[in-house]
Amino acid sequence: MNFTFDTAPNIIFRSGATQDLGNLVAARFSRPILLTDKGLIDAGLVQPALDSLKKAGLDVLLFDDVAADPPAPKVKEAVAAARDHKADGVIGLGGGSSMDTAKVVAVLLNSNQTLEDIYGTNMVNGDRAPLVLSPTTAGTGSEVTAISVITSEDDLKLAVVDNALYPDLAVLDPELTLGLPRHVTAATGIDAMVHAIEAYTNIHRKNPLSDALAREALRLLSSNIVAACETPGDIKVRENMLLGAMLAGQAFANSPVGAVHGMAYPLGGIFHIPHGLSNSLMLEPVLKFNSPNAAHHYAELADVVAPGSSGSDQDKCNSFIKKMVGIVEATGVERRLTQLGISHNDLPRMAEDAMKAQRVLQNNPRKVTYDDALAMYTEVL
Ligand SMILES: NC(=O)c1ccc[n+]([C@@H]2O[C@H](COP(=O)([O-])OP(=O)(O)OC[C@H]3O[C@@H](n4cnc5c(N)ncnc54)[C@H](O)[C@@H]3O)[C@@H](O)[C@H]2O)c1
Ligand SMILES: [Fe+2]
Repeated sequence: MNFTFDTAPNIIFRSGATQDLGNLVAARFSRPILLTDKGLIDAGLVQPALDSLKKAGLDVLLFDDVAADPPAPKVKEAVAAARDHKADGVIGLGGGSSMDTAKVVAVLLNSNQTLEDIYGTNMVNGDRAPLVLSPTTAGTGSEVTAISVITSEDDLKLAVVDNALYPDLAVLDPELTLGLPRHVTAATGIDAMVHAIEAYTNIHRKNPLSDALAREALRLLSSNIVAACETPGDIKVRENMLLGAMLAGQAFANSPVGAVHGMAYPLGGIFHIPHGLSNSLMLEPVLKFNSPNAAHHYAELADVVAPGSSGSDQDKCNSFIKKMVGIVEATGVERRLTQLGISHNDLPRMAEDAMKAQRVLQNNPRKVTYDDALAMYTEVL
């Protein structure tokens, strides 16, 4: 056995924690920038955190202009705002987009590297500014991953992957997710399940810690996601979702994702389809495509999501796929690319862009060619 495992050094999981954010972070910095988006302002989730920071004596700058699938120019704008403020710390409060933007701002704040310099793996030089992340979706798990996904000027989803991106502190407050709209609950929850599934089948870095985390993540997420859609105000269900998403994040941070993400990236990069929805669209075709090589792993996951399923590995693999598809359908998310305005003519460019996602495709249990990608997109058109 041979593996390494990293995660965020300090995690606080508590309902209402962000109302006490000031006290939780005051020892770390005094002039933070808080990165978030307008949707979160409108949802009323930012003001209590801001009030708490001010009450603790912090001179906080609010940057509420984070964009979904953060485009590179917007991220650079955030870095400039942080420098103008002479920020000495960074807080990301929001979904993956806000947290991923915060990570890059923390890295570039005092650096002479550019965003373009740090794309790729282990490209960050020097220290980053103190960094605190607090998720409002359950979700990307970005609060415990060393990854930031940025949309480049030519619409590619590029990643910064470096241990410097683990935050100093992750603050998980399930109350923040109580008002998540149904379609966001569904899409982000499916993204989290995909993180667990793909961590479990990574052909290079699968490891026993990620496996244990992925199984528990998938158990929590698969048994709560429909309830989170149906009874959104149930705090217990929201807690289970937030915990599940975090565990999945810890799993895939150390055993990265595969072809569902690789095939989903062009949907986000080119058409700005939300990340979770892109993943949910590609889940069924990729699971079926991977089955010849991953049936034994999917059979193990059947024990988690469909306890009592029996038969051969292939039978249990089929039960697993059926169960996952059933869950996705029950959440009510779109199931066809055409529902999102994508047409037959778009598929070749998407398949070409998917081939550029080798960072994740290389982890997949079955090699994906251009023709395979085109066939899978056609399947869900
Ligand atoms: N860094 C990582 O490890 C990692 C992993 C997976 C995905 N990602 C990236 O994260 C991004 C997606 O993040 P996301 O799915 O969390 O969505 P997001 O951050 O893009 O937010 C989606 C929408 O949901 C709204 N929202 C978020 N929380 C809310 C709440 N509690 N109440 C009401 N509205 C709320 C936001 O305002 C926004 O409009 C993508 O760019 C994706 O590539 C990163
Ligand atoms: Fe994801």
